Amino acid sequence: MIIGVPKEIKTNENRVALTPAGAIELVKRGHSVYVQKTAGVGSGFVDEEYMEAGAEMLDTIEEVYAIAEMIIKVKEPIEKEYSLIKSDQLLFTYFHFASYKKLTDAMIASNSVCLAYETVTPDDRTLPLLIPMSEVAGRMATQEGAKYLEKPMKGRGILLGGVPGVPPAKVLVLGGGIVGTQAAKMAAGLGANVTILDINLDRLRYLEDVMPPNVTTMYSNEYNIRRLIKNHDLIIGAVLIPGAKAPNLITREMLKEMRAGTVLVDVAVDQGGCIETCKPTTHEDPIFIIDEVVHYCVANMPGAVPYTSTIALTNATLPFAIQLADKGWRKACKDNPALAKGLNVVHGKIVYEAVAEAFDMEYHPLEL
Ligand SMILES: NC(=O)c1ccc[n+]([C@@H]2O[C@H](COP(=O)([O-])OP(=O)(O)OC[C@H]3O[C@@H](n4cnc5c(N)ncnc54)[C@H](O)[C@@H]3O)[C@@H](O)[C@H]2O)c1
Repeated sequence: MIIGVPKEIKTNENRVALTPAGAIELVKRGHSVYVQKTAGVGSGFVDEEYMEAGAEMLDTIEEVYAIAEMIIKVKEPIEKEYSLIKSDQLLFTYFHFASYKKLTDAMIASNSVCLAYETVTPDDRTLPLLIPMSEVAGRMATQEGAKYLEKPMKGRGILLGGVPGVPPAKVLVLGGGIVGTQAAKMAAGLGANVTILDINLDRLRYLEDVMPPNVTTMYSNEYNIRRLIKNHDLIIGAVLIPGAKAPNLITREMLKEMRAGTVLVDVAVDQGGCIETCKPTTHEDPIFIIDEVVHYCVANMPGAVPYTSTIALTNATLPFAIQLADKGWRKACKDNPALAKGLNVVHGKIVYEAVAEAFDMEYHPLEL
């Protein structure tokens, strides 16, 4: 198959969909890989590495779209790319269709085949192509939180791990899923006292088993949250209710209960946030302050560490990209139902129910 890897053109997107290591694997199987020049530079991969891997470099994004049977990307196509997409072309990338009506309309009109990373779903209902980014965001949440706890950053001026003779900081993690677990592990590793709240008792039992002794688990309810926010230095929001807006576990009036310089990192901001006062921020301007409480609410946290994020993402996407390249999308999706769940728009028809529902459009079950 002819595979094209364009350079991402969405603002501040430095990730790339294929590493030189991935190019080697595809070329080895007899596929042709075309990469747009400098596509990997933002993630630390220079053109020469792709060429050594057997890929060919193309000057422009137009050439990549024109030659490729399958385009592998990171972010959803943006408007400038819509006209480049060919009928029957397979696009394998994050789409998040339900958030973008214009994109959905454009992909329907393109007559392409859109396979979305975010809905590839095995039988255990995990989301293997979202997990790596949650892992990155969770670990970053603690790192960013530690930074903003410093006094010049408007934080309380407390070192996460303390020092001999001085107690460590207290970290509260709301939600013990992928993000929360990674955030808690990092904070505990730095020596902080960590409390994880969740409503899933089985999850709390698991965390209690695997976490070090400086991590405590508690059931998540308003009573516990109100008590804990008074003396915790860093609070990380990591809750998710699939398919719904995140619940507001910390309301505007609760900020008054917190000490000046408390830092809130709301990782769930991309689902509306679990802290009422959070609104999305960017890496250029990541924080704002309300009632002397620092709010960090960057919606695309993994974007700040493209080297790590690119490798983490492509470790997960490559096995699926290989199946698609080896078998073509029809057979690959027939053989692997997890991959078939990634199909969202096929030849002008919406084949993913939640996307059709989001826009009140016609749903065409895949089997038909
Ligand atoms: N900002 C970013 O860059 C970024 C990056 C990756 C993920 N995220 C977001 O982070 C959030 C968490 O993702 P995840 O992968 O960890 O999800 P997950 O499903 O693995 O974990 C969510 C956890 O929240 C728990 N939960 C639900 N309601 C709760 C409540 N009322 N109190 C406490 N816990 C509750 C669930 O039981 C679950 O354990 C999502 O909104 C995701 O979109 C953001």
